[in-house]
Amino acid sequence: MIKLENVTKHYSRRGETITALRCEQLTILTGEYVAIIGPSGSGKTTLLSLLGGMLSPTTGKVWLGETSVYDLPTSARSEHRSQQLGFVFQTFNLVPYLTALQNVQIPLCLLGQAAADQERRASEMLSRFGLADRLHHRPSEMSVGQQQRVALARTLVNDPKIILADEPTGNLDPESREVVLDAFDAAHQEGRTIIMVTHDPVAANRATRSLTLRAGELTEADTDLQADQSPQRLSA
Ligand SMILES: Nc1ncnc2c1ncn2[C@@H]1O[C@H](COP(=O)(O)OP(=O)(O)OP(=O)(O)O)[C@@H](O)[C@H]1O
Ligand SMILES: [Mg+2]
Repeated sequence: MIKLENVTKHYSRRGETITALRCEQLTILTGEYVAIIGPSGSGKTTLLSLLGGMLSPTTGKVWLGETSVYDLPTSARSEHRSQQLGFVFQTFNLVPYLTALQNVQIPLCLLGQAAADQERRASEMLSRFGLADRLHHRPSEMSVGQQQRVALARTLVNDPKIILADEPTGNLDPESREVVLDAFDAAHQEGRTIIMVTHDPVAANRATRSLTLRAGELTEADTDLQADQSPQRLSA
């Protein structure tokens, strides 16, 4: 379970303060598949980064189970991230001078796995995403859809319990989008928690719960359980 409690996030720039997010209470249960929808600048990446232990809130607490994530020392927080969380970033964040295989090996390397095991596991993951013949290509030598699949393989390679994805299907052709969404469906069926930011209605429809962000304010439209109710305001 992931929980936000009285969280705000302010950014300060040149004496000006922007409130990027305000949320009194949000609970995401283990195994949920949540879509976060909202216009550009509404705080989606900020919310995802807070949930993922990558950006400390200005006020409030982020709980992962019984642990208050931002009360952990930095080293324990990054250990918890590499053991439990997988991220798909809005901009892929592939390392440009590493091959597809080496990029996918990164999380395993951080966990201290032996090089031969890293290679075997990374190449299995890339094959699963139809990239068996692109193992030694660098990001600039691959299409956008292929780069996103490499990023996805890297996210899933260490078997994360929680997947945080920022626009994972943005800029993808329909075929690559299906590959990504099918991988998320499979991960959801395996009991993983998925939290996905998306502008794409096709992607949002695959989730079992939707949250909407507008100017940092979160509202909920639970597609399955509350389809006939108006969205409920979560935060003040
Ligand atoms: N490091 C920062 N410093 C100052 N302001 C920031 C910073 N990061 C984000 N913001 C501001 O906070 C608000 C929320 O940004 P965020 O990146 O979370 O939006 P988003 O919903 O992910 O947008 P997009 O759909 O364009 O990716 C925006 O108004 C943005 O300008
Ligand atoms: Mg964003």
